[in-house]
Amino acid sequence: MDSHQPQADYDHLFKVLLIGDSGVGKSCILIRFTDDTFDENQQSTIGVDFKVSTINSGGKNVKMTLWDTAGQERFRTLTSSYYRGAQGIALVYDITRRETFDYLPQWLKEVDVYSPNGGKDVVKVLVGNKVDMEDRVVTRKEGEAWAKSKGMMYLECSAKTSVGISQVFDELCAKVLQN
Ligand code: GTP
Repeated sequence: MDSHQPQADYDHLFKVLLIGDSGVGKSCILIRFTDDTFDENQQSTIGVDFKVSTINSGGKNVKMTLWDTAGQERFRTLTSSYYRGAQGIALVYDITRRETFDYLPQWLKEVDVYSPNGGKDVVKVLVGNKVDMEDRVVTRKEGEAWAKSKGMMYLECSAKTSVGISQVFDELCAKVLQN
């Protein structure tokens, strides 16, 4: 091998997308994972943002580009183009706002339309966020049942307390590696 060639510092490179309604906590989940911080006044994402993180999964260094999309309807045409090349998608809802759970079928439809091969090759995980809050309205059972019916994994987390956050990315990564 040419010794002047720079060596990649990872074994795999994955693209992961976070999608879901505005305000469910996509940016906060990502920032908790990459920077281990939380902002009560997190601003709504304009368009698309991304962060890079490398984790070790099954002895392999996996570099992930983590794309945080805007949940607001007005950015939808822009965000749709980011599905291309994504190996993993975290579909996020807020366990304290039922409408964010009820809208999940629409998000899944979007995944099917914009992902190559109708979304069949992309690993999807359903994430119920804000488990730190007391005014929960969607039960874990409901979340699990819906995810199961769509052949998805189900996880719950809180970007505020950080419970369950690393599992979201660890599980996604492990599942993408399996594929
Ligand atoms: P868009 O960028 O508009 O799509 O929203 P988003 O899904 O990225 O939501 P964002 O991360 O901006 O969070 C929205 C609000 O929810 C902010 O006020 C956060 O502080 C709050 N929030 C996010 N995650 C949690 C959580 O786990 N627990 C609690 N209590 N609040 C959270």
